Amino acid sequence: MNKILVTGGAGYIGSHTVVELVEAGYEPVIVDNFSNSQESALEGIAAILGRSITCHRIDCTSTYALRDVFKKEGDIAGVIHFAAYKAVGESVEEPLKYYQNNVGSLMALMQVMEEFGVNNLVFSSSCTVYGIPAELPVTELTPVQKANSPYGNTKKMCEEILTDVAASDSSLKTIALRYFNPIGAHPSAKIGELPLGVPNNLVPFITQTAAGIREQVTIFGNDYDTPDGTCIRDYVHVVDLAKAHVVAIERLLSNKAESIEFFNVGTGRGTTVLEAVHAFEKATGVKLNYKIGSRRAGDVPKIYADVTKATEILGFRTTSTLEETMLSAWNWQLHLQESTANA
Ligand code: UFG
Repeated sequence: MNKILVTGGAGYIGSHTVVELVEAGYEPVIVDNFSNSQESALEGIAAILGRSITCHRIDCTSTYALRDVFKKEGDIAGVIHFAAYKAVGESVEEPLKYYQNNVGSLMALMQVMEEFGVNNLVFSSSCTVYGIPAELPVTELTPVQKANSPYGNTKKMCEEILTDVAASDSSLKTIALRYFNPIGAHPSAKIGELPLGVPNNLVPFITQTAAGIREQVTIFGNDYDTPDGTCIRDYVHVVDLAKAHVVAIERLLSNKAESIEFFNVGTGRGTTVLEAVHAFEKATGVKLNYKIGSRRAGDVPKIYADVTKATEILGFRTTSTLEETMLSAWNWQLHLQESTANA
């Protein structure tokens, strides 16, 4: 069974990918330092799979710690690298923390992969590399632009590092997946997003408000050049996104990939913030307390993906509607409430 190292495997997208890897016949091994994830994710994974998954609690910026894991695990067929900080606002306040961790962990990982002759890498990138795109939907050929935050810049820099290394080392094969907005949770409601403190992202803020933890959702601006004036995003179910990693690994292991390839992973549908709110209300029957507020600094007015490349080359398909995805996020929130109540 092919062993796949999953850095950040206890995190939001990582935990869902671990489950999909097992279901596709791989043996994932998790590496996580739990700086932005919780042990309970491992319990959720085990509850879904009926068995636990090996997890090494290490920091991915440490070549020593990584070497130790590679030595202990032996034959690693490929790596999926999720481990990174991801809060846009925090990255503006603490840029060094972001460069050190997000760029540092990739460099440490690539060094150790090279030492151990591990040549297959899937990298978590983001549609943030497109900045404010001139044309929609964005394809992989849409120009990459200056990022509007240090977080975004780390993704752009990591893509550049990967491109340079790919050009110098013909044995390394990399697939960078540019995620649009991942939302929702596993249908079992045993794993999902676990935001620390007040959520920055729309959907956890919606579910926490609907659950009475937050008073009200503020919609950040309704004076954009969009049909209802609110920003447009491409919200993709996290399980669909997780499956994109499995097909990316399959492509790498079957030696079909070029030295480095980039894929958009979204639904191909643009949704306004108000449409997202209404989809939540329709799917759950819960009325949401929301108000229109002012624009949030740094927001891209509209972005959504052209997913033709991922569809044609990876065979990527989304399977969930926005309402189904919202319902899964809500079921996860209810599960969290229940576990807190029982604790
Ligand atoms: N929004 C609100 N109210 C909120 C939270 C968000 O109206 O309380 C709006 C935002 O203005 C935006 C949309 O909902 O229009 C989505 O916002 P998110 O914060 O959920 O997601 P972003 O699109 O801002 O950010 C996501 C990822 C980042 C990544 C970025 C790339 O979370 O990691 O996409 O574009 F950098």
